[in-house]
Amino acid sequence: MKAATSAILQSPESGKPLSLSSVSLQGDETWEGKLSCQDEVWPIKEGIADLVSPLELSASDARFREEYNVGSARYQEGMDWLFNAFYEDEGKVRNQMTKTLNSQGPELILDLGCGTGKDAECIINHNPQCRVILADLSIGMLAEAKKNLTAYKEQTDFLLCNGSHLPFQDSVFDRLFHFGGINEFGEKQRAIEEFNRVVKPGGKVVFGDEGVAPWLAQKEYGDILKAANPLYAHEPPLADLPAGASNVKIHWIMGNAFYLIEFEKAEGPPPLNTELTIPGKRGGTLASRYRDSKKN
Ligand SMILES: C[S@@+](CC[C@H](N)C(=O)[O-])C[C@H]1O[C@@H](n2cnc3c(N)ncnc32)[C@H](O)[C@@H]1O
Repeated sequence: MKAATSAILQSPESGKPLSLSSVSLQGDETWEGKLSCQDEVWPIKEGIADLVSPLELSASDARFREEYNVGSARYQEGMDWLFNAFYEDEGKVRNQMTKTLNSQGPELILDLGCGTGKDAECIINHNPQCRVILADLSIGMLAEAKKNLTAYKEQTDFLLCNGSHLPFQDSVFDRLFHFGGINEFGEKQRAIEEFNRVVKPGGKVVFGDEGVAPWLAQKEYGDILKAANPLYAHEPPLADLPAGASNVKIHWIMGNAFYLIEFEKAEGPPPLNTELTIPGKRGGTLASRYRDSKKN
C-alpha cells in the first residue's frame, strides 16, 4: 500500500484517523503492516490493507464475497457470455461507461467493486495523469485486478473494503466509479451516501448495474432477462441519490438492460426562494403553503 493511500484512510467503523506501522516494505510501499487507532487494528498483507467493515457482514454481502472469491478466476467467462448475449463489444462498452467520468489532469479516482480491473484500465487510458484506487470486497477479485494491472503500478493501489462502509476520509476523491455490484449490496442506500461522502464537492459519481429500462421491463424482452437473472428486475435507485445530487443523468446501456447513473456532488438541495410571494388568488409563499400543509 502506498503512503498516499494511507494518508486518506480512516476507520470504516469509528471514522477515526488511522496510523500506519510498516513491518516490511517493497520499494516505497507497505507490504506487511497494520493500520490502527485506539483498540482497532486493520491488517496489511501482501500490500493490500483489509478494511472490510463490519467484521460480521450482512448475509447478502457475506454470500457475494464468498461467490466472488470462489469464482474470480472464471469471472471473465461470464463476462464473455454477457457481452456476446447482447452483441456488444466489452472494450467499447467499458470505454463508453468510464468516459462519462470525464476525468482530466492529476485526479484521484476510486474504482469501487473493481472486479478484475478492466474499468480501471479504461479510466487510466482516458486520463493517463490520474491515479486510481481499486477497492473490492473480494480478495479473489482484487488479486486478479492486481495481476492484470501490473503495467499501471505507478497509478494504482488496491484495498479491501465494503462499499457501504468506505474507509476513506470525507471529500478525498475527484471521481468515483462503480459498476456491476450495487444491486446486490446489503446496504445499497448507505453505499450511495458513502459514494457521495468520499467525493469532493463538484466531484462526480458514476455507478450502474442490471435493470431493464422501464419501456422494456414488462415486455417479453424484459421477461426473458428476468427469468434468467432476477437482478434485471432492479430499477435505478434514483430516490436514494443525495439531496445535493446535481447534473444527474441516467444512461441505458447494453441492450437497455443496465442503468448507469451519473451525478455531481453539491452541498445540499438546489437553492429555493421559499419567501417569494406566489402570484394569484391563493397567494402565500412556498414556505407558508408548506407550513399550512403540515397543519392539515
Ligand atoms: C459483477 S462484479 C463487477 C466487477 C467490475 N466492476 C466489472 O465491471 O467487471 C461485482 C464486483 O463487486 C464486488 N462487490 C460485491 N459486493 C461488494 C461490496 N459490498 N463492496 C465492495 N465490492 C463489492 C464483487 O466482489 C465484484 O468484484
